[in-house]
Amino acid sequence: MDKLYTKKIAAIIGMQWGDEGKGKLVDILTEKYDIVARATGGANAGHTIYHEGKKIIFHLIPSGMMHKDKICVIGNGVVVHIPTLIEELNTLKEFGIKAADRLYISDRAHIVFDYHKIIDGLQEERKGEASVGTTKRGIGPAYTDKISRIGIRIGELNNFESFSKRFMENVRLARIMYGNFEYDENRELDYLKSITPEILPLIINTQQYLNDAHKKGKSILLEGANGTMLDIDHGTYPFATSSNASIGGIISGSGLAPQINPIIGILKAYTTRVGSGPFPTELNDEIGKYLREKGGEYGSTTGRPRRCGWFDAVIAKWTAMINGITEINLTKLDVLSGLEKIRIAVSYELDGKKLDSLPYAANDFARITPVYIEMDGWKEDISGAHKFQDLPKAAQKYVEKIEELTETPIKYIGTGTKPEDLIIIS
Ligand code: IMP
Repeated sequence: MDKLYTKKIAAIIGMQWGDEGKGKLVDILTEKYDIVARATGGANAGHTIYHEGKKIIFHLIPSGMMHKDKICVIGNGVVVHIPTLIEELNTLKEFGIKAADRLYISDRAHIVFDYHKIIDGLQEERKGEASVGTTKRGIGPAYTDKISRIGIRIGELNNFESFSKRFMENVRLARIMYGNFEYDENRELDYLKSITPEILPLIINTQQYLNDAHKKGKSILLEGANGTMLDIDHGTYPFATSSNASIGGIISGSGLAPQINPIIGILKAYTTRVGSGPFPTELNDEIGKYLREKGGEYGSTTGRPRRCGWFDAVIAKWTAMINGITEINLTKLDVLSGLEKIRIAVSYELDGKKLDSLPYAANDFARITPVYIEMDGWKEDISGAHKFQDLPKAAQKYVEKIEELTETPIKYIGTGTKPEDLIIIS
């Protein structure tokens, strides 16, 4: 495996609605790469890791920072909430880890301010029943400013005076749009001024840095955020996040031209979703509850219970295609142990007609009837399995069926919460 992963650019991408369990593979593969970079999303993502017996959740900084010889990059496509960044830098300090010379932040990454979070909440409130169920981290409003060409980029902290002017102007515009919401802009500005000296040394042109490093033979692991079904173009719009969570976003959000291989897709062995929006295989019954409790399906960013359902091969096939997935990590297979029968959605019907692909409209998506196949479950605890052959026959058949339906090889199978609970198929 070592040889396979040298001097390469790899990407890890969620193939469902986020929370597929990317963390374990990211941690394992980090060992094989020189640089770990994020290119999309913001503090809406959450990555839980266990270090020296402590549970740590990173929302912005790549968890590769916990591996002392790795360089980590927050790319131009990420939106950065600075107080969250500072919190995470403080967590690193608690473990004796310094960011200097190991963490770089793109000068072009846009800033999420606290008023973006307030606007996120206001938009959700105004949408009423049509609310997206966002993480309220200000992601949508920050990307809106970026696309409206009024966004403020982190590099602008280099000239605090002009930064302040632009910031105050944007707050003024936001108040015209959203009324006189409760918010102390002077306080936020004072705070930003106080922490700017800590952040400035980390800010560089990361597009140039990543390309130069790659040219010099460094390998790069690009860590996706959110999930392809939340992608603003390819997901269940408008019940989506405000960026491209798929491979396109990773390319534009890093500045690395297409040369990524492997593109590793993360697929949970069943499906979950947080927030609102269509979810054809959702289970509002005892099995759904079983998956939630056994799989610990509560959001790492918001703590919200995740909606749970059967594996949906229609979306898996779609996201394999959209991303050009070269290999899959099937995660949390152990959660399915103990179920008598397991279902997989293999196609969709709408108004009695078979669909060739995913509908574009959310209200059609919500009316879909999934067509299922049913497979035998298995009783055995599989967390000790380290080889595919160690799995019960029914579990092997389930994995093979997903491989067949997605037309993509499954290379890794997650069989439990511990780092070693992983089958690598060579
Ligand atoms: P936003 O990204 O906070 O605007 O939220 C938009 C939708 O994406 C909501 O349904 C969120 O719950 C969902 N979402 C955003 N990021 C993640 C993630 O990392 N995992 C799971 N769901 C997410």
